[in-house]
Amino acid sequence: MSGIKRIGVLTGGGDCSGLNAVVRAVTLTAINKYGCEVIGFKKGYAGLYFNNYMQLSAENTEHILNQGGTILKNSNKDNLFNYAYRDENGEICHKDVSDVAIQNLKDLHIDALVVIGGDGTLTSARDFARKGVRVIGVPKTIDNDVSYADITFGFTTALGVICEAVDRVRTTAFSHDRVQILEVMGRNCGWLALEGGLSGGADIILLPEIPYDINKIVDVIKERDAKGLNDTVIVVSEGAKPKGGDVVIKKIVADSADTVRLGGVGEQLASQLEELLGGKEVRATNIGHTQRGGETCQYDRSLCTKLGSLAVDALFEGKSGEMVTIYNATPQTVSLEKVLGSGATGETSKGGSNNVDPNGFVVKTARNIGISFGD
Ligand code: F6P
Repeated sequence: MSGIKRIGVLTGGGDCSGLNAVVRAVTLTAINKYGCEVIGFKKGYAGLYFNNYMQLSAENTEHILNQGGTILKNSNKDNLFNYAYRDENGEICHKDVSDVAIQNLKDLHIDALVVIGGDGTLTSARDFARKGVRVIGVPKTIDNDVSYADITFGFTTALGVICEAVDRVRTTAFSHDRVQILEVMGRNCGWLALEGGLSGGADIILLPEIPYDINKIVDVIKERDAKGLNDTVIVVSEGAKPKGGDVVIKKIVADSADTVRLGGVGEQLASQLEELLGGKEVRATNIGHTQRGGETCQYDRSLCTKLGSLAVDALFEGKSGEMVTIYNATPQTVSLEKVLGSGATGETSKGGSNNVDPNGFVVKTARNIGISFGD
């Protein structure tokens, strides 16, 4: 007997499309299959600490399958094992408040938790499991940089946004004989730029995994111009960097698990290229958080439903400290110790094992059809 009568669910870290679909699947599976109650904690782990929660039901999750964002809200700042607060002098201090959360769970008679998030959130899930809380993680990130996962939810929805954006800037590039640069997210992982650029039909794709040479990019644009192909579309990952150079940092978010926010490489490239191309117009667009929002695509709705349901099954099978995933086309759970130990999951890793392989199939395919990586 699992002894589970009431489970809690929370969404931590940055949002991405599909969170609501997972929350719905967790709720419906728990209620329909196991006759169990579901509590949704608000604003990630902050909800556990402050006892901020809502009852989830078939009724209040009925229409959220396709909705971006999360009805439970997110926080990427509330690590209860190293909780930031201001002391009486206004100084930021840290303390471990995880025991408060554990007591709150006991008081609420919550027997197990489903935690949906990236590696900051999953690291805390692992730490709660180490302290005896029954917890299963569901990995999320548009960056698709999670090890032991074929594909993460949110990625495919984001690709749809990128693909449409490439289509849209292509017409301007064509009409004005311009270079149009599209900067996309992904942190230090190039899957969004690679698959987005490939599906959108970009001419040049710049990735963190393949440092570029600006002179090679200039050559490609000039070669295209010489052939009468006067419009060039470049998709650049926010984490792309020149050979021997570094990434462009937009801002530092001091109280976040991952303090570095990348951004600005597109604009930087635009001004460099405009100078080197001597007169040809270059424009840059950063599509930023549009990639994280909006309606969840069909593929992600289905993936989220499978993962949410799998998470509840895993809890009732007595598992804890594991992450649900579809890996090598097989639904399974993988120990969080193993996943996080590889240093390769979502939000704070600096290029984990699910990065783009510069010699892999997708890069080769792109090269086969003449896409340049500026290398
Ligand atoms: O990890 C997901 C992600 O969207 C990255 O691609 C991006 O660099 C980062 O989060 C942006 O974070 P924030 O929402 O804090 O600006």
